[in-house]
Amino acid sequence: MLKILHKVTGLISLILILLFMGSTIYAEISENIVLIQKVKSLIVWRGLFVLIPCLIITGAIGFKMFGQSKNVHVLKKRKRMPFIALNGVFILIPCAIYLEYLSFQMLDSTFYSVQTLELCAGLINCILIILNIRDGIRINKIKKSLLS
Ligand code: HEM
Repeated sequence: MLKILHKVTGLISLILILLFMGSTIYAEISENIVLIQKVKSLIVWRGLFVLIPCLIITGAIGFKMFGQSKNVHVLKKRKRMPFIALNGVFILIPCAIYLEYLSFQMLDSTFYSVQTLELCAGLINCILIILNIRDGIRINKIKKSLLS
């Protein structure tokens, strides 16, 4: 049960970050200010309330399953998790909140600088999460081959 939850919340986290980035880029390209404001508000007032619990649950279950494992893939996943969390807490969440505020003020150079920072930090977290999923699949395969 916990394994399934870990898998599902992990995948939801990745889909949500991709969705945030995709809708942000789409809104910027459209140059539609109302759409940009809508996307920024949805990310802060809806998206983050799903993404943050999903990442916490994924990490918590991951560490619970980790136990005393010496498996190299588990150790790699464990090492990446603090970067994912720190990136989220200190860059992505503050950027999302500040950008939502700025989108209703002025879309000036500050807005686009913070937007670029948010997209870069989002891309880094996407890559780290994809690597964690890849290692999760590898661990699962190793377990299955040991059992058969
Ligand atoms: C955002 C972070 C993470 C994501 C997206 C993620 C994703 C996944 C996914 C999708 C699987 C299932 C693979 C499959 O069934 O084929 C998995 C398995 C696993 N994950 Fe994670 N994971 C994350 C963090 C962690 C952490 C921090 C740890 C522990 C240090 C961890 C430990 C494991 C273990 C041990 C398995 C294998 C479970 C089993 O089959 O017995 N994960 N992970």
